[in-house]
Amino acid sequence: MIFGRVKPLDAILATAEKKSLHRSLGAFQLTMLGIGAVIGTGIFVLTAEAAQKAGPGMMLSFVIAGFVCAVAALCYAEMAAMVPVSGSAYTYSYAVMGELIAWMVGWALILEYAVAAGAVSVGWSGYVVGLIEHTFHLDIPDLLTRGPFDGGMVNLPAMLIAALVTWLLVIGTKESAAVNAVLVLIKVAALTLFIVLALPVINMDKFTPFAPLGFSGISAAAASIFFAYVGFDAVSTAAEETKNPQRNMPIGLIGSLGICTIFYMLVAAGVIGTVGAQPVAGPAGEVLAPGSAALSQQCAALAAAGTEAVTCSKEALAWTLREIGWPQIGNLLGLAAGLALPSVILMMMFGQTRIFFVMSRDGLLPAMFSKVHPTYKTPYVITILTGIFVALFAAFFPVGILADISNSGTLFAFAAVSIAVLQLRKTDPDRKRPFRTPAIIVTAPIAILGCLYLFWSLGVETKLMFVGWAAVGLLVYFGYSRSRSHVGRGVVDVAEDGAGIPPQPVPPMPGAHTPGGQDA
Ligand code: ALA
Repeated sequence: MIFGRVKPLDAILATAEKKSLHRSLGAFQLTMLGIGAVIGTGIFVLTAEAAQKAGPGMMLSFVIAGFVCAVAALCYAEMAAMVPVSGSAYTYSYAVMGELIAWMVGWALILEYAVAAGAVSVGWSGYVVGLIEHTFHLDIPDLLTRGPFDGGMVNLPAMLIAALVTWLLVIGTKESAAVNAVLVLIKVAALTLFIVLALPVINMDKFTPFAPLGFSGISAAAASIFFAYVGFDAVSTAAEETKNPQRNMPIGLIGSLGICTIFYMLVAAGVIGTVGAQPVAGPAGEVLAPGSAALSQQCAALAAAGTEAVTCSKEALAWTLREIGWPQIGNLLGLAAGLALPSVILMMMFGQTRIFFVMSRDGLLPAMFSKVHPTYKTPYVITILTGIFVALFAAFFPVGILADISNSGTLFAFAAVSIAVLQLRKTDPDRKRPFRTPAIIVTAPIAILGCLYLFWSLGVETKLMFVGWAAVGLLVYFGYSRSRSHVGRGVVDVAEDGAGIPPQPVPPMPGAHTPGGQDA
């Protein structure tokens, strides 16, 4: 019976008992935590990709993706509050739907975290290269700053930042609450400045045609731009240390997603209304896919003719500001992105090492993965391995492709958690739930359908990649993990202590205590 291996929820919960967290987070702190975790490459870079897919209709894409995230987050929060231990969606699935599904969720989370870290590294590279080029009037060859799909050979800066973050994680760097607060401020200030400068000069004519590629274009952009909201689970996982979570959790989740959505729509409006956001078409009028060699060629041709487009830019917001007469502020925005994005990479890579760590401790991955460094007390083997993969993704793939692949894994994991929450309400209705998803009977199905809809709206190649990845996952499971599983062998060992891994790098706001057994 392949779905029979369930890790007892009580055994999992016993591990959380040892830490009694101080409930100190209020609605405001949660909202700030969410904004800090969410704003990153999505808005700074993928706005250009969304424009290429949907044109001005990308404003609607932001709303759709934000809505799906909000309902999924409400479901996620019930599970996170109830099972506040390492492994997030993987652990929840293990307890409710059994080992096979848990494995598949964990396998999908590799896409969510490691591939996303690669995407943010590429996004960082675009801004930093642009900043250096404009500040020092240099022309760094594309060959060294873009992957082979994108008109280059290798993205060296993206590789470098991935390596740097890996090193920081190996030596056990954690973001302090103060650093996080500063980074939130920098990101919000940069976006606010953009909005303040762009909105007064928008031209409403640029909004038509609003949906040049129809609703399917808007859906496709929503599926990609979903990436801009990833990270909101940081709020859900803080449930255990939230004051009055039943009230504050939905405010924190909906508040941070709502504020981000408003920011994103205003930024999108600023781009559309100033420099225009119509998709770049090929010589025969055909629609070109973002991140494709054909689009790079067309962009190069446009640049040669002196008519660049925002959809060609690797630093959409800085580029827009330069176009509308604010070159220095454009550079400043590049600097803000350069400073703030590495913390998103850190968070993602940390999340990945934590998932691998838990899977390894459950026997599903080699025990060597959970080896802890004698001096730094970090899981250095798995951190370095993760770093190598992230650096390779970053070196050779365009940001949009990586973001889409990451989204496929995230959507799968969130759909699984929404199903698990619903199922657990039926099978274990009396269990203590510090936070209950409001109107779960409607919210969970909407979340599941929303995730399916966005998944379906991803490109064919992305979906095929996901299926291929899942197939490899099944092979690994049946070929290696199943026979070594601790639960399968009757060893229910879920002790959290001695893990020696740093607490989550998305810190709570000042004055709060960090939940050592959770991850973003
Ligand atoms: N939401 C994060 C970003 O956009 C992952 O970079």
